[in-house]
Amino acid sequence: MASPDQFQRPLRDLRISVTDRCNFRCRYCMPAEIFGPDYQYLPREDILDYEEISRLARVFLSLGVRKLRLTGGEPLLRKDLPTLVSQLSALEGLEDLALTTNGTALAQQAGSLKQAGLQRVTISLDALDPEVFSQMNGINASPQKVVDGIAAAKEVGLGIKINAVVQRGVNETQILPLVQFAAEHELIVRFIEYMDTGAAHGWNLGKVVPSNELLDLIKDHFELASLPQNHPGETSVCYRISDTAAEVGFISSVTQPFCTNCSRARLTADGHLFTCLFAPNGHDIKGLLREGASDSELANRIREIWGMRSDRYSEIRSHATPAHARPEMSYLGG
Ligand code: GTP
Ligand code: 5AD
Ligand code: SF4
Ligand code: SF4
Repeated sequence: MASPDQFQRPLRDLRISVTDRCNFRCRYCMPAEIFGPDYQYLPREDILDYEEISRLARVFLSLGVRKLRLTGGEPLLRKDLPTLVSQLSALEGLEDLALTTNGTALAQQAGSLKQAGLQRVTISLDALDPEVFSQMNGINASPQKVVDGIAAAKEVGLGIKINAVVQRGVNETQILPLVQFAAEHELIVRFIEYMDTGAAHGWNLGKVVPSNELLDLIKDHFELASLPQNHPGETSVCYRISDTAAEVGFISSVTQPFCTNCSRARLTADGHLFTCLFAPNGHDIKGLLREGASDSELANRIREIWGMRSDRYSEIRSHATPAHARPEMSYLGG
């Protein structure tokens, strides 16, 4: 097991990014002006292969991690992802195996992912209106493809959450239609406050819509009943839409930070361990791995890193936003 960090937070979750590439160019994440044809993605030889990822996941599980989430970029761009999923789903001690995706390849891959042992998918869908969606994803993609992906995930029995990042003046019109969509299809939809990740997308507080404002708007149209948190450190606060199996949730990292119980570590596609979404640097685990470190040497290094952890960026954001560079979300996996 790993000892808790400097604020007594245990290591429970590992988010694993499998690629820093994506087919979308969401303006709040990978704006096309910056992520253009000349953008330097991670070189292939730096990217962990599936055996390396599975081995590290096993070490993390031995340290107390119980939940794994695959992220990107867009994880379904990685070749043959179900192979990795089946390796991970067989690991001892794993309680929850999930994937965060933009949903565009889900119609083709939902069946094989489920068969490989994936339990849940979280699908990003910021708008149902084609024009708003197109503007947000930066490549003129239509929401229908994502909606088809959601249907396929439902069909094969994967657990589903929908994520929508909300930006002032961009997709506020989409809130009620998304809640209505969730109610009709018995889904969980979660609205995410726009965050100041990375350096690529010109964040400012004026573009953040506080979750309380959304809650008031939704309550004017739907009856909501408060739900308890599923576990400490959960990112969202959720409500049941009365008389349905659907839920509405809010991820309010800007106005109601949840660092106090944050038990998440992040592993990048090139094997760097980050202890916070906003940490300036990661710790190079791939180096150790490829130099031939044993499982216990890897475990000791991870223990040491977690033991020193004192991140609580979202809690101090408003008082002392650091001038340091922050990793891009597409690299760190959200
Ligand atoms: P569940 O396990 O289903 O609760 O998923 P999750 O909310 O942990 O993961 P997801 O990939 O759906 O992330 C939802 C949003 O929360 C994204 O915008 C993430 O970047 C953000 N998020 C996830 N973990 C953290 C965190 O530790 N800190 C901050 N600030 N944001 C986070
Ligand atoms: N702020 C908030 N959420 C973001 N995501 C990507 N960039 C941002 C941002 N700047 C979301 C994606 C996805 C999740 C992994 O992170 O939409 O749902
Ligand atoms: Fe791709 Fe997700 Fe970033 Fe959009 S938010 S560009 S879908 S990684
Ligand atoms: Fe955890 Fe950092 Fe997010 Fe706070 S800002 S919840 S410490 S990842």
